[in-house]
Amino acid sequence: MCGIVAYVGHQDAYPILIEGLKRLEYRGYDSAGVALLNAQDELNVYKAKGKVSDLEASVVGKDISGHIGIAHTRWATHGEPNQTNAHPHLSNSGNMALIHNGIIENYMSLRKELEKRGFTFKSDTDTEVLINLIEDVQQSEHVDLFEAVRIALNHVVGAYAIAIVEKGHPDEIIAARKGSPMVIGIGQNEYFIASDATPIVGRTQKVVYIEDEQVVRIKLGEELFIRTIHDVEAIPYVQELEMNLDSIEKAGFEHFMMKEIYEQPRIVRDTMRGRLHPDTNSVSLGGIVNYEKQLLYADNIVFVACGTSWHASLVGSYLIEFLAKIRVKVEYASEFRYRHPVITPHDVVIAVSQSGETADTLAAIKLAKEYGAVVLGICNVIGSSISRATDAGIYTHAGPEIGVASTKAFTSQVTVMFMLALRLAELKGTLTPEYRAELIQELDSIPEKIQWTLDHSAHVKDIAAKYKDVRNMLYMGRLQNYPVALEGALKLKEISYIHAEGYPAAEMKHGPIALIDKDMPVVFIATNRNTYEKVLSNIQEVKSRNGKIIAVVSEKDVTARGMADHVIEIPDCISIFSPLLATIPLQIFAYHIAVMRGCNVDQPRNLAKSVTVE
Ligand code: F6R
Repeated sequence: MCGIVAYVGHQDAYPILIEGLKRLEYRGYDSAGVALLNAQDELNVYKAKGKVSDLEASVVGKDISGHIGIAHTRWATHGEPNQTNAHPHLSNSGNMALIHNGIIENYMSLRKELEKRGFTFKSDTDTEVLINLIEDVQQSEHVDLFEAVRIALNHVVGAYAIAIVEKGHPDEIIAARKGSPMVIGIGQNEYFIASDATPIVGRTQKVVYIEDEQVVRIKLGEELFIRTIHDVEAIPYVQELEMNLDSIEKAGFEHFMMKEIYEQPRIVRDTMRGRLHPDTNSVSLGGIVNYEKQLLYADNIVFVACGTSWHASLVGSYLIEFLAKIRVKVEYASEFRYRHPVITPHDVVIAVSQSGETADTLAAIKLAKEYGAVVLGICNVIGSSISRATDAGIYTHAGPEIGVASTKAFTSQVTVMFMLALRLAELKGTLTPEYRAELIQELDSIPEKIQWTLDHSAHVKDIAAKYKDVRNMLYMGRLQNYPVALEGALKLKEISYIHAEGYPAAEMKHGPIALIDKDMPVVFIATNRNTYEKVLSNIQEVKSRNGKIIAVVSEKDVTARGMADHVIEIPDCISIFSPLLATIPLQIFAYHIAVMRGCNVDQPRNLAKSVTVE
């Protein structure tokens, strides 16, 4: 949802900004731009439709000097993705330039007001309105830029992470945030500002996460100066950055998505590290230890999440109800926030999010708190807004996920769901010690089984080659594999643009079966032992209507493989664990189809990695 990066210091700003934009490109990639203040106090703004590489091509031969600058990669909200609407935007006087991630909801009324006061606008964006509002305040109140920003933001409804440079101030950037993320890196006589820590990695380890409604003066030779928009001073809290350069590079893979798929054995192990104890057959979740009682006696555990995180939550609901016998609901955060849900202080709401910045999930957290519920988080990004907005939580430790389509985030979230369900079952005494031990030993073996799945996945590419030109596809699974079917279909549609739907297999006869003919391939996840026979019947129903069948089966399977056109094996496991394995080949299948169709796998059209707007 747009990436912002800014720099002030002793180095040339342009290369730092461009590298930062490339690392942030997953957040939006329909246009990019940069503003640099050079030694002659000229503010040079360059913008291009398309990727950061298009911006680079467009500045060849131009003045890109300057030790201070701001840059932006855009995911359009207001105004089509073109050069005019790209950021940075200049104020009418041309004295200041602004980059913005977020949405100014009342921009139309502000624009009308500013037009009455003589301001003119070149673009359709809310951002150009904001920079002129700031200029208007500065001129009419005779205040410096910091103060003008603070006052102006009191008139703004919406979300923003902004950074501004001003002529005559070659050593100062003013930044602010509300609802959209912002982190500041503190180097030796230099500062880095970005939407997340990825542009800062490798440059400094010292960071400050800016809080909502804070305005910051970032001035060389001075400490960060922070006040809230309501004029209350805030003390910056400097933290160590927990991320390294290796974790944000491709490590020899052609795409981040494939790199992240192959990281899954390690990630799942990292997620369990220090939490799963196979020696004592127990689980400890330090992050939520003070809330175990509330979870145990909760009327309902309510997961709120979006997209892939919602699918992981659905797996979690099956596991917690089955193993720990606690009622669980799973809600789309976007629906939850508006549908007046019945939530009481006896409920525990768990927000699940990779990025920790999803606007709908943040709003759901706020609402749940208003109802008095305990709110926990399952989050990947340390220090993210959701991790800070929740009472406590469990980090997934998947490392930065750069590919826009979630892969390792899903498996790490599902791993957390297993540990949570097992811990609650342990506390509640719902499992015999023998069965709990069996489950814990199985979870401990999952990283090796994921590795086996990856090692035996070469033929998935051949299957993908056969189906790369289809227009539609169905995915069917039962119980814990129903969310896997949803996730498999989501992966295919988001990166290959093939229409795909996931269903609980038994629902097929209630409608989707009408779609089956020779042109409708169906992926069946046929691994659950207790519903195996039923899934076989569904496979038969598709076969007798000439549908093509791709079956994900267990290594030891005998029957389903005889019925399917193509078979993908996963290692044998206790049925409830199959989501952690069956998901892997479906990710790989979607990946190969997308590559063969010439799609941009890591940055699919119209998408962005973190959805910080409604
Ligand atoms: C799909 C995908 C999205 C996200 C969703 C929630 O591959 O990435 O569906 O899962 O936007 O994002 P987070 O988990 O960051 O809250």
